[in-house]
Amino acid sequence: MHLGTSITQFIIEEQRHIQGATGDFTSLLNDVVTACKVISNAVSKGALVGVMGSAGSENIQGETQKQLDVITNEIMIRSNEWAGHLAAMASEEMDDIYPIPAKYPRGKYLLVFDPLDGSSNVDVNISVGTIFSILRCPGEGDAPSAQAFMQPGTKQVCAGYAIYGSSTMLVLTTGHGVNGFTLDRDIGEFILTHPNMTIPADTKEFAINASNQRFWEPAVQRYVDECLAGKSGPRAKDFNMRWVASMVAEVHRILTRGGIFMYPLDSKLKQQGGKLRLLYEANPMGMIVEQAGGVAWTGYERILDIEPTGLHQRVPVILGSKNEVETVVSYHQETVGKAA
Ligand code: AHG
Ligand code: MN
Ligand code: MN
Repeated sequence: MHLGTSITQFIIEEQRHIQGATGDFTSLLNDVVTACKVISNAVSKGALVGVMGSAGSENIQGETQKQLDVITNEIMIRSNEWAGHLAAMASEEMDDIYPIPAKYPRGKYLLVFDPLDGSSNVDVNISVGTIFSILRCPGEGDAPSAQAFMQPGTKQVCAGYAIYGSSTMLVLTTGHGVNGFTLDRDIGEFILTHPNMTIPADTKEFAINASNQRFWEPAVQRYVDECLAGKSGPRAKDFNMRWVASMVAEVHRILTRGGIFMYPLDSKLKQQGGKLRLLYEANPMGMIVEQAGGVAWTGYERILDIEPTGLHQRVPVILGSKNEVETVVSYHQETVGKAA
């Protein structure tokens, strides 16, 4: 029998190379991994345990919450609040930060998450996921405020996601490449199955919600037009298109076979800055994509360089295969030049 590398073993061995590592981070990651296993279980039981459909509430962003949005948020909190590694948490599904209750020891890290990404898909049995990011909490000893979370993506200590698809996987980076683990339900462990995931620089596959086409900016309009023109167009190749409406599933596909994913700025989203959330979605996915050799920009700037101004801040996202993202960015730069 072949004994695979479990995620616990992988994290411990990785941390051994970090000078001064106390084991705190390793244990925190273990708790996050446990939460993802619990969520995987809840998601896969689905209607059997009566968790489908709307919760009848809205989150701070005005989106209708699914029952599973609320349940998975609770799972993340309960799994991670007690061990003494965190000072506070922030989630897409909570208005304010969640400081660690006084009955538990306060730790040095901050945990940021989207507990159920793509939740509009749960009722129709399409892949969903959990996205997370770990930051250091600045100002030792102080009770953390939302300000503590206002750190650019370059400061992330770790980013990852779990995808609840045809299999459950966990994909992780601590800044030394990207590794993928598959949940073996028989033993309840994530096993390393996708070491060193990389995104090919070129692709023939793009992902965008084309129902927003009439709102797009000229740069995106031009890029997609050129993809659609295929072999006889300026790109001289035929493209394929996908749109799952779960960012986790799109990023996972891109890490597996390349591609470009866009939720760009458009005239409808201008006021709110974009669709996807900087702290819970764009930054963690941006770090993972960059660590796999891809690129993550808004069209105008590198996502990981953005100085956050609000917990629930939204940004445009264009990420994936390097050469494609750079092409779209160059089209943005041309239009900015023209406007000046
Ligand atoms: P969430 O379910 O956490 O609110 O995120 C959904 C996000 C993202 O995962 C996906 O790419 C996008 O919203 C889909 O948006 P549209 O429904 O506009 O296509
Ligand atoms: Mn999401
Ligand atoms: Mn969500």
